[in-house]
Amino acid sequence: MAIRQPIITVAGHVDHGKTTLLDSIRKTTIAESEAGGITQKISFTKVPIENIKKRCPAISQYNLDFPGFLFIDTPGHAAFSHLRKRGGSLADLAILVIDINEGIMPQTAEVIELLKINKTPFIIALNKIDNISGWRKQSESLKESIKMQSTSTSQQFQEELLTIIGALYHHGFNAKPFYEVTDFTKQIALVPCSGKTGEGINELIMTLCGISQKFLKKQLELGDEPRGVILEIKKEKTMQYAEAILYDGILSAKDEIVIASFDEPIITKIRVLEEIQPISDKFKPTQQAHAADGIRMQLINSKEVLPGMPFTIFKNNASEIKKQFQKEIGDKIKTSEKGIIIKADSLGSLEALITMLRQEKIPVIKADIGKINKKDIISAQANLKEDPINAIILGFNTEIDEEIKQTDISKIKIITEEVIYKLIENLIKFQNEKRNEIKRERLIGLATICKLAILHQYVFHNSNPAVFGVRVEAGKIRHNMPIIDENGKPIAKIKDVQENQKKIEEATQEMEVAISLPGTNFERQLKEVNNLYSDLSEKQFIEFKENKDLLTNDEMQALQKIAEIKRKQKPAWGV
Ligand code: GTP
Ligand code: MG
Repeated sequence: MAIRQPIITVAGHVDHGKTTLLDSIRKTTIAESEAGGITQKISFTKVPIENIKKRCPAISQYNLDFPGFLFIDTPGHAAFSHLRKRGGSLADLAILVIDINEGIMPQTAEVIELLKINKTPFIIALNKIDNISGWRKQSESLKESIKMQSTSTSQQFQEELLTIIGALYHHGFNAKPFYEVTDFTKQIALVPCSGKTGEGINELIMTLCGISQKFLKKQLELGDEPRGVILEIKKEKTMQYAEAILYDGILSAKDEIVIASFDEPIITKIRVLEEIQPISDKFKPTQQAHAADGIRMQLINSKEVLPGMPFTIFKNNASEIKKQFQKEIGDKIKTSEKGIIIKADSLGSLEALITMLRQEKIPVIKADIGKINKKDIISAQANLKEDPINAIILGFNTEIDEEIKQTDISKIKIITEEVIYKLIENLIKFQNEKRNEIKRERLIGLATICKLAILHQYVFHNSNPAVFGVRVEAGKIRHNMPIIDENGKPIAKIKDVQENQKKIEEATQEMEVAISLPGTNFERQLKEVNNLYSDLSEKQFIEFKENKDLLTNDEMQALQKIAEIKRKQKPAWGV
């Protein structure tokens, strides 16, 4: 049985040293040549076992069955979530890189959650140990070197280590320094290292080899059918290429492939098949690619092919494959009858987002790949009528299409982020605010808390109706609102509210308006009165009290005053 290379994804927070670490393993200097030192896109490198042996002669003593590693480097800011295939992670194993001096950062936390969701086994490279103050490489053996550091350096190292172990524990993982791990299936190995000085890299390689040989062999057996995932679509001049990972089987240049999509699967011949060269980022045409391989395909029909889409060989089995894909995609991207709208840049990202939203019990009505477009706005507008809480579009790693920059989207909330959990955090915050706003509106709409100051210099009509000026000191006044005086005596229901001699629906805090009260005599009833209040029933009062978080300070004070008046009048009124 042929054994393929394990696919090893390197992931972690921006600048924690992923590319440098890979450089150290490969003995290359890719990180230095990157624009701004930032990895822009997912890239892969095939490293044959001979090169690994050169880098780490100690592994020669083991009988390793696999032909090398296929490493995937990911940009720190996003996109790790592309790397999915049917049933979980595209990676057989992952290296989570953490700068030991910085600890767990937002992107680290996100990667940890994705590793958990995908059930991907992983080890942790605690990188940049050379930056710990006073650190010296004391021995070829990392374990010895750690022991031989000066007291203060050792203390700092231990502190950072414990903090990270504690944080990992909160994420549900039991992590230990690699030399203390007794069971690699239950404990996460921490390997302190430096991509810069190379210290600890041998230990990292040994750990990768050990885990691959011992635990992954079964899943590394090469299957019969070629299977892969599209990572990126690239346009160069008139050509369009699909970069992909072939994670199982053998793909021939003559094969016709079928690519899963939302609707009809895309069936296409391959015009040119290329594979990545060992320890290089160059592709070379080939007749056959063997998993695990990084490949580039020129496709005859590449319309609508998107990152994250899985593919396999086409053997006149379109309907069967369609069913299989639809189940695969449908299960992952199951939507509800109500909910928000989400968009992402790839199937993998979309799936990761939907999974995390499900954990938060946030329903999704529509999930799609691509930019946020007119159709999404229409869906959100439809939601606005049903439930404004769902008039939201989330964009993960995607942006707003030019076509809707003109459209009025003021009532719809669009949130875009490159980190899922920030996206969800912003969403929850927005939804909570929105919920409170709605509740408040409903509450204020039910009855009205109101405190008025009578403007004695503005009495326009003395009696039946009495028409005079008031200032709204808290809450609001409305047509038909019953009012009481400071002693709880019912005065009348407000008939009209006028501002500058124009009738208005309501007057809010700080407005000065004229009100008319039928059946009232100002001179007799109100001459000595300074304030008027809205009359509340006990039930209304209790409802306000139960939702007092939603009231402003002035409204709260007015409510207390109304309660006081009422209590004096009728002791049974509780506060
Ligand atoms: P992104 O691809 O942008 O997410 O970054 P990355 O994680 O690939 O980090 P990269 O390898 O580009 O390294 C970021 C910076 O940290 C560079 O300036 C490296 O030289 C430096 N660096 C990486 N590893 C080490 C290390 O072990 N020690 C020290 N002192 N510096 C390191
Ligand atoms: Mg990088």
